[in-house]
Amino acid sequence: MSNGPAVAVVGASGAVGRTILELLEQRQFPASSITPLASSRSAGSEVGGRTVENLASADLTRFDLALFSAGSSVSAEWAPRFVNAGAVVVDNSSHWRMDPNVPLIVPEVNGDAIAGHSGIVANPNCSTMQAMVVLKPILDAFGLDRVIFSTYQAVSGTGVKALDELRSQATAVLAGDSPEAAAVYPHQIAFNVIPQVESFKEGDDYTTEERKMIAETRKILGLPGLRVTATCARVPVMNGHSESVNIQTSQAATPDQLRALLSEAPGVVVVDDPAAGVYPMAIDGSGRDEVLVGRIRSDESAERSLNMWIVGDNLRKGAATNAVQVAELLVERGL
Ligand SMILES: NC(=O)c1ccc[n+]([C@@H]2O[C@H](COP(=O)([O-])OP(=O)(O)OC[C@H]3O[C@@H](n4cnc5c(N)ncnc54)[C@H](OP(=O)(O)O)[C@@H]3O)[C@@H](O)[C@H]2O)c1
Repeated sequence: MSNGPAVAVVGASGAVGRTILELLEQRQFPASSITPLASSRSAGSEVGGRTVENLASADLTRFDLALFSAGSSVSAEWAPRFVNAGAVVVDNSSHWRMDPNVPLIVPEVNGDAIAGHSGIVANPNCSTMQAMVVLKPILDAFGLDRVIFSTYQAVSGTGVKALDELRSQATAVLAGDSPEAAAVYPHQIAFNVIPQVESFKEGDDYTTEERKMIAETRKILGLPGLRVTATCARVPVMNGHSESVNIQTSQAATPDQLRALLSEAPGVVVVDDPAAGVYPMAIDGSGRDEVLVGRIRSDESAERSLNMWIVGDNLRKGAATNAVQVAELLVERGL
């Protein structure tokens, strides 16, 4: 162990928390200690070779850095407590993302904005995150006038209970039985596509996930007036979100120019030889830290417009990898 920060992983028994613990080890994060925390339900269980402690009775003054993935209500209540006890919080929930005092960071895109933090740094929503590493180099080179997102989101994005729900429904259907009633999602997810990710607020035809994509894209790219819209769907894929993204640039760009530009972009891999069956797919993106982009082509229906297909591992770059990268940035810059 080094002299580095004492790290708490809050929500360590969850889908994102487990991945954070794995990545802290894999990337040899310079922690002096790593403590997994969760609710009383999983306190005492083992995760990644460590014993989970109960958040409710933890001594917060032990920690310098806390990586949160335990849902919005836990972040709302506990992030300020960690900050008051002297820690910096990197939060995966949506609770703090749009707070004007909280930087929303993708290190490859707007890492410098982290300098203004006042104790909490937010990690973007998973479907927004994977698009940002692709859109930022395009914005810098050609400008961006408009973005249309259509997402095909994996069930791991909803956590461990959703993975269990897809598995058990798929097993029942394949055995010729009727699946149990849906509990995590509003409808059966096995062998289905649900055009609803998260919930609808009264009076709004967009889901909360779609609203997050729109608002977070504008905040991260620093373009408050960007024309952007989103349709988010849940698909019966275990892990890895796929997105069809249509963009209108300010200056004309060809697909070859985008391929060349994106092949140099940090955290992005161009996978684009469609005639040979080579394009990004969820099963290939799952387990990788990079975001895959392909199917890059001109949209002949509108000026200066292109289509592309973007795939990312929602548990890694969409959550845990980015959170650990943010933590590395905090350490590197002495923040
Ligand atoms: N999954 C993704 O792709 C993804 C991507 C980006 C952001 N996020 C965000 O990350 C967060 C976690 O997502 P997830 O998918 O990992 O969910 P999950 O698998 O359901 O895990 C939730 C975690 O939070 C803990 N927790 C719940 N209530 C708690 C409480 N009152 N006190 C302490 N710990 C509590 C759970 O502990 P117990 O085991 O004790 O219940 C578990 O460790 C959410 O805010 C989500 O929006 C998820």
